[in-house]
Amino acid sequence: MNVEAVKWIGGTDGILELIDQRRLPAEFVKLKVRSVEQLHEAIHTLAVRGAPAIGVAAAYGPVLALQWLTGRPSLQEALDQVLKACDYLASSRPTAVNLFWALDRIRARAREVAEEPQATIQHLHASILTEANAIYAEDVEMCRRIGENGERLIRSGFGVLTHCNAGALATAGQGTALSVLFEAHTKGKQFEVYADETRPLLQGSRLTAWELQQAGIKVTVICDNMAGSLMKQGKIHAVITGADRIAANGDAANKIGTYSVAVMARHHGIPFYIAAPSSTFDLSIESGAEIPIEQRNPEEVTRFAGVQTAPNGVAVYNPAFDVTEAKLITALITEKGVIESPNTERIRELLA
Ligand code: MRU
Repeated sequence: MNVEAVKWIGGTDGILELIDQRRLPAEFVKLKVRSVEQLHEAIHTLAVRGAPAIGVAAAYGPVLALQWLTGRPSLQEALDQVLKACDYLASSRPTAVNLFWALDRIRARAREVAEEPQATIQHLHASILTEANAIYAEDVEMCRRIGENGERLIRSGFGVLTHCNAGALATAGQGTALSVLFEAHTKGKQFEVYADETRPLLQGSRLTAWELQQAGIKVTVICDNMAGSLMKQGKIHAVITGADRIAANGDAANKIGTYSVAVMARHHGIPFYIAAPSSTFDLSIESGAEIPIEQRNPEEVTRFAGVQTAPNGVAVYNPAFDVTEAKLITALITEKGVIESPNTERIRELLA
């Protein structure tokens, strides 16, 4: 099955089509997004999720916003509408930097076009669609290259642990962490993947297991608390995950639970890799301590599949992400190359 998590259909009057990831794996349903409000809701409720996919989807939001202009607006009013849409979408989720990176690109392009002497609203509209399409296409290419750069780290006979979902569903292309595995599989390597189920929202069991099954890669779902035991039994030879934001020094935020996996991998002498495109790096912050961590609805923890699983009124802590320090990361796999033992100098050198 061709997994297209995010797809723009048509020209400036088009719509955004998303795979509704809230309903996988039981149902494969496409969501048609026609307004900025609907897109904000889709991002916030994880219909579309994964750092690169959020950025790509949000880039199309201002294109939708301009479809809703009424009367005879001026170019300035159209530009204001674009900027307002960008600000609103930036409030949908705080951690994945790809969202802000993509919206900044749309803002910059819109301002640039609006300053041109012959600029029209049609021109503005077409230009931001072109920019969104470029963000989409670049993401596809970055994913492909991440796979090519990382596949050598996976060998036949490996057991590979992954956490959350960093596959095609999380990007415009073939994923980041899973792109590495897809490439290794294409090269004929025989390995097995263990997918942490990834409580509370089960991106590992619902999405990663689904994607790997579709691709014909052997996958076993485990509860998050089983990973350490598997490592001890010698069944895991590498861990690979994606990231939502990587600071200048290499500290990386990813789905809650990633940090524990990295600590356990270090204890067992297992390499821990993070695969991410350059759009996931935030060189404006020195370390992971500055990464804002999203806190989500307590009900994600107190209810499971619609059933109450904790007493009424109990306190809940539900951060969506945690930060793994660079010193626990064996290498960062990017589209530009692999950064072994990442630190500020090595990251700047490769990404500059
Ligand atoms: O809350 P989510 O599902 O958006 O979290 C996603 C992750 O943590 C992914 O690992 C990360 O965004 C990388 S996706 C290529």
